[in-house]
Amino acid sequence: MKRTASSTSGPRPRAQAHPANESFPWLDFLEIDNDVIDREHREAVDQGNILSRLIEERRDWPRLLAVLQQGRARSARHFATEDRILEQSGYPESASHYEEHCRILAAYDAILAELEAVTAPQPQHWQRAMAPRDLLVDHCLKDDLRFKSHLMHFGPKPR
Ligand SMILES: [Fe+2]
Ligand SMILES: [Fe+2]
Repeated sequence: MKRTASSTSGPRPRAQAHPANESFPWLDFLEIDNDVIDREHREAVDQGNILSRLIEERRDWPRLLAVLQQGRARSARHFATEDRILEQSGYPESASHYEEHCRILAAYDAILAELEAVTAPQPQHWQRAMAPRDLLVDHCLKDDLRFKSHLMHFGPKPR
């Protein structure tokens, strides 16, 4: 008889694991060296990891929607904090950074509206719920790290 992946002995791979859903660890290079921004980024990573677990379990759709809604509110608060700090420090790209925050919140809203309309989630809906985290991680890696050296020189000094 032909052996299939499910009939082999030994440890079974995690059911339905998808690399994009895995926990995203806090990494040292993500540190901006601004206490407020770093604390909020850590909270975002923690929340993203809660989301990953809920998506992997695929059990509690209402709870998943609630976490996504909290993530939207938390992101809006964080973006406002970041925009204020960048503006006060004279960051030359603060206007385009602000625009990017607006674009992300609009994209987040569209995904949220799409998922809030779902009552019987299918695999593609659970997978789609990962999209806001991907938006936020991309922004942090592509855009937030760009202001790190500026804040080191011009940002508020640690007390
Ligand atoms: Fe940002
Ligand atoms: Fe940020």
